[in-house]
Amino acid sequence: MLNWDDPLAKFKQPAGNMNANTNTDVERYARAAAATEMLGRLEPEAAAPMKAVGTAPVVPQAPEQAGATGLEQVEFGARRLAVDDKMMINCRADLNQLVPFKYKWAWQKYLNACANHWMPQEINMTADIALWKSRDGLTDDERQVIKRNLGFFSTADSLVANNLVLAVYRLITNPECRQYLLRQAFEEALHTHAYQYCVESLGLDEAEIFNMYREIPAVHDKASWAMRFTESLGDPTFRTGTPEADQRLLRDLIAFYVVFEGIFFYVGFVQILSMGRRNKMTGVAEQFQYILRDESMHMNFGIDVINQIKVENPHLWTEEFQREIITLIREAIDFEISYARDTMPRGILGLNANMFEEYLQYIANRRCAQIGLAEQYPGASNPFPWMSEIIDLKKEKNFFETRVTEYQTGGALSWD
Ligand SMILES: [Fe+2]
Ligand SMILES: [Fe+2]
Repeated sequence: MLNWDDPLAKFKQPAGNMNANTNTDVERYARAAAATEMLGRLEPEAAAPMKAVGTAPVVPQAPEQAGATGLEQVEFGARRLAVDDKMMINCRADLNQLVPFKYKWAWQKYLNACANHWMPQEINMTADIALWKSRDGLTDDERQVIKRNLGFFSTADSLVANNLVLAVYRLITNPECRQYLLRQAFEEALHTHAYQYCVESLGLDEAEIFNMYREIPAVHDKASWAMRFTESLGDPTFRTGTPEADQRLLRDLIAFYVVFEGIFFYVGFVQILSMGRRNKMTGVAEQFQYILRDESMHMNFGIDVINQIKVENPHLWTEEFQREIITLIREAIDFEISYARDTMPRGILGLNANMFEEYLQYIANRRCAQIGLAEQYPGASNPFPWMSEIIDLKKEKNFFETRVTEYQTGGALSWD
């Protein structure tokens, strides 16, 4: 298991090849897929009971009302950029000039994220491969937890990356925040790489894992919930600049940063990290530990952006909009509780689904407070205090400050 204060192990090893005995799960997934298809749940349109929320048609805005993109003609001899010209959304100032900084916290997060660089192949997967191959090293329930979470996360991080690159990025009109978004997008690629690396190392059926969000209802529900928000922003004709459109962007940011990365990832994190704490699947757990550290920073960045948009545009934060967001968060908690029950139908590793319900309510209270909403589940406490220790106390520490880096630097580059 990763010690947060130790340098990253320099161990490198080839991916293992083994054939997992997956017949039971294959059959189970096939049945679930058939049932899912019958219910028409493979079609996101049919799966979203709250589709109306966040997808009301918005009349495209005239370009001059929307923010700049950074691709405008360069205006020769224009007045020099001042800090006060900068705004989080709908800013018409030059987006190609990183400085002067207005949001120093965004630049600091970019620096912290770069200081925390890691690569999936650096993590030792040998013990995991041996354990997965052994006949009685893991129970069927433990194998299900591993596979379900690799299944959910392997496509979830691609969804997050696509939302960032294709929907959110062009609408955030601030260069230092865009700098962080570019770093975040790369980290999402690293996370998808990490899941692929786990799948390859353990010799899992990659089609089974990567198709899970189209075949397992509890995984599908979370992905299709998020798709509603990014689909509307991904429309190339969409522009911000009206209260309705700006609220739509704010809603997407809350859906992805607060709910998707801030709630939907947490049952999986607890399950996999619990396994590592019991000395099982320590390589997979270490991958998740690094990912959790990144995700914690993503969420904190997103919350800072959301709150900054609120400060600059208080008219967006109406009572009605707040009620809508609370409904979204409560709905998300229900989906995540279903996911906990699906991944862990029986108690294992000292965990059970009821503990996750309590934990998710505790998390929801925190998320609500972080964006200025009232707590929704009074009295909910944290049954996993060790998670807070990992997330809250260490979230932006430079874990690699003592590490001897092995990355090729400019001075060592070969032209061949
Ligand atoms: Fe991620
Ligand atoms: Fe993320």
